[in-house]
Amino acid sequence: MTAHAPLPPFPASFHWGTSTSAYQIEGAPAEDGKGVSIWDTFVRRPGAVRDGQTGDLACDHYHRGAEDTALMADLGVNAYRFSIAWTRVQPDGSGPANPAGLAYYEQLVDSLLEKGITPFPTLFHWDLPQALEDRDGWLHRDTAHRFADYAALVADRLADRVEHWITLNEPFIHLAYGYAFGIHAPGRALMTDAIPVAHHQLLAHGMAVKALRSAGARKVMIANNCTPVWSASDAPDDKTAAEAYDTLHNHLFNDPILLGTYPDLSAYGAGPDLNGVVRDGDLDVIAAPLDGLGVNYYNPTRVAAPGPEHGLPFQDLPIEGVPRTAFDWPVVPDGLREVLVGLADRYGDALPPIYITENGTSVDDKVVDGRVADPERIAFLDGHIRALSQAMAAGVDVRGYLTWTLLDNFEWAEGFHQRFGLVHVDHQTQTRTPKDSYYWLRDRLAELAATE
Ligand code: NOJ
Repeated sequence: MTAHAPLPPFPASFHWGTSTSAYQIEGAPAEDGKGVSIWDTFVRRPGAVRDGQTGDLACDHYHRGAEDTALMADLGVNAYRFSIAWTRVQPDGSGPANPAGLAYYEQLVDSLLEKGITPFPTLFHWDLPQALEDRDGWLHRDTAHRFADYAALVADRLADRVEHWITLNEPFIHLAYGYAFGIHAPGRALMTDAIPVAHHQLLAHGMAVKALRSAGARKVMIANNCTPVWSASDAPDDKTAAEAYDTLHNHLFNDPILLGTYPDLSAYGAGPDLNGVVRDGDLDVIAAPLDGLGVNYYNPTRVAAPGPEHGLPFQDLPIEGVPRTAFDWPVVPDGLREVLVGLADRYGDALPPIYITENGTSVDDKVVDGRVADPERIAFLDGHIRALSQAMAAGVDVRGYLTWTLLDNFEWAEGFHQRFGLVHVDHQTQTRTPKDSYYWLRDRLAELAATE
C-alpha cells in the first residue's frame, strides 16, 4: 500500500488537528505585560540549549497569528491545540489577570471559531511563572493552588466559547527533564527527590478540573505522554526493570487520575504518601472525573536492568531494526495501537474517550525550489493514523488526532535543530513553506470529508 492510498474511514465527528505550545511558537516574551517564565530564564543559562538559541522570537506567532490560522484553515483541520502562557495572564503567577493577556487568547479563540476550528487550549505546557519557581515551583504545594486560580481566570473569560480544555501537558516529562535530570527548565537535577513534583502537578490538575467546571467548562482532560514499555528480554531482572519504568512513565500519572490510587513507587524510594506530600483527600481531588484523556505518543521504550553505576532501577536501550527520526527516535507506528489497547485493558470502564493530543516526527527538512519533500513524515503520519484506526476497530474510543506540529518551532533543549512541523519555518526570515506532508494531510482530510 502506498502512503497516498486513502485512509480508512473515521467518524464524521472526529477531531483532526495540529498541536503547538506557547513558548515554542509565540515569541514576544515581554510584550503586553507578559511576565518572565522559567523558560525565559533557563534559555539564558550557558549550555542549556543547543547553540545558545532561545524562544525570544520563536515563530513570531504572536504577531503572525492570522497567517498561521489561515494555514490551518487551508489544511482543512477542524481542531487546534495550543497552550496559554500563564505569564501572559498572570505575569507573576498570582493575583489579578493582565487584561492584555486574556484579550490575546480571546482573539485567537474567536479567530479559530470563525474558521470552524475547535480550540483545545492547554493551560500549562511547561512555562511556569519564574516568580513561582523562585518559591520552589512544583516542589511547593502552593503552586497547585496558584494554578487553580489561574485556570479559573482563563475559564471565566473563555468557557462560554471553549468546550475542550486540557489542564497540563506531559507532567511526566516536566518532572523528569525539568526537575530530575535538569535538561529542561527549571534545570533542577534532583533525581528521585523530584517526586513531589508529580504529586503537586497532579493536585494542580485536580484542582483545576474543579475550577474549570465551576466556570462552565464542558470537556476537561489532561495530556499525558504514554509509551509502550518493552522488556529487553524475558530475564526476571529485565522484566522487573521494565515494570519499574512503566510505573514511572505511565502509571504514576494515569493511575491517580483514573483509579484514585498511586502505583507502588518503592523502587524509587517513595512510600505511599510520596514521602510526606500526599494529604488526606488529595487523591479524591486528583481523581475528579474527566471527559477525555489526551495521549501524546512518540515511540516505545525498551528497558533492561540497570548497570552497576546506575542510580535508577532501569536503563533504556535502543530499539533496533526500525526507521529513526532526525532526533534519533525509533519509528514504531504499531506502538500507538499498543498504547491505546493497553490503556483500555488497564483502565476498562474508568477510561474516558481518548484524544491523541500529540504525535509527530522530526525530519531534517530543507526547502528546495520552494518545495519541502518530506516522505518520512508522510509515512509516519500514514502509519500512525492506520494504527489508530486499528485500535478503534479493536474497541478503543478515540475522538481526535492532533499531530505535533503545525510549524517547525523551538524544540526545547534542541533549539531550532529539530523540525517537527507540517509547515517549514525559515527562522531567519519567518517565511512559512507548507511541506509535502501538509498537502498530503490536506488531501487525505478532503477525501475523508467527501466519503462522509
Ligand atoms: C512533547 C512536548 O509536549 C512538545 O512540547 C515537544 O515539542 C514534543 N514532545 C516533541 O519533542
